[in-house]
Amino acid sequence: MATKERVLSGIQPTHESFHLGNYLGAVKQWVELQDTHDAFYCVVDLHALTASPEPQALRRRTLASVAQLIALGLDPEKCTLFIQSHVPAHNQLAWVMECLTGFGEASRMTQFKDKSQKSGADRTVVGLFTYPMLMAADILLYQAHQVPVGEDQRQHIELTRDLATRFNSQYKDTFTIPNGYILKAGAKIYDLQDPTSKMSKSAESQSGIIDLMDAPEVNIKKMKSAVTDTEREIKFDEKNKAGISNLLTIYSALTGQPVSAAENEFAGKGYGDFKAAVAEVVVDYFRPVREKALELLTDPTHLNQILKTGAEKASAVAEKTLADVYDAIGITSRA
Ligand code: TYM
Repeated sequence: MATKERVLSGIQPTHESFHLGNYLGAVKQWVELQDTHDAFYCVVDLHALTASPEPQALRRRTLASVAQLIALGLDPEKCTLFIQSHVPAHNQLAWVMECLTGFGEASRMTQFKDKSQKSGADRTVVGLFTYPMLMAADILLYQAHQVPVGEDQRQHIELTRDLATRFNSQYKDTFTIPNGYILKAGAKIYDLQDPTSKMSKSAESQSGIIDLMDAPEVNIKKMKSAVTDTEREIKFDEKNKAGISNLLTIYSALTGQPVSAAENEFAGKGYGDFKAAVAEVVVDYFRPVREKALELLTDPTHLNQILKTGAEKASAVAEKTLADVYDAIGITSRA
């Protein structure tokens, strides 16, 4: 039997709930790929430290993230689900990656530039600067072929590819060169109130963000208040009709039908009817997910058992890669 291709991805436990963009841009693909690939998925708690969370909040959100991932369809029998910090090789390889990355190269990362410009140099932690090298380590440790992520991660994947290629040619062929698995539709879901900005957990206002763990009434209200335009046609046109196009993308991804079919379905109908229909689809889709996640959270022992098994499986793969890396760069092995 041919061995399956490897997949790895990660998500930060920065909030109590994932949002619709996280699901459509990434986690929906994670669920699909666990059937066809050897899949590793991690909750990247070390990355979340760059946002300086309260200890209690980080602990709670990490477990809540695991519960949501399982409720959204990850099956620990089919994939390896683990917490990043449970596998110390991530930090160990990150240091090697940092010693391989140019200062200028790291300074050009747009997510770092945006975030550090917003907070100012004195309030930007160094961990935000080295964030992409830890992410490269996450991916390369597992020799991943595919990395399912949203559009905003494209530059980080490019850096990871560059670092892997550099390592392989400078030392020894050690790493698989990963590919970003980024969908054409859904890789960038926009804020409902500001449909030219991506839906983001760090947005100033929460009114345009659909949190999967929010009560259905809250999300219906937010969906129905989505910003549209002054025309009346329900047509996909990202340039001139950003709000309607975003809603069409969401509707199409959740119902599994092409955007053109949705356009036909709503031809001649008003924006109000359309928004109500999208709201219903969203709420119906996530109602059981929310219930399942809440139920899973009533039994942390069960979740911790899943994570223990996940960490063991992940460690076995990660430690082998780390040993190869150390050997290739000339680190003396302990007698
Ligand atoms: P994070 O936690 O910010 O987001 C998790 C995933 O959700 C995607 N995403 C979106 N997709 C579409 N539309 C949106 N509005 C939207 N917002 C977020 C993100 O692209 C991501 O795939 N750096 C990563 C976490 C990470 C990682 C990794 C990913 C750490 N190590 C290794 C892959 C492989 C991040 O901040 O994701």
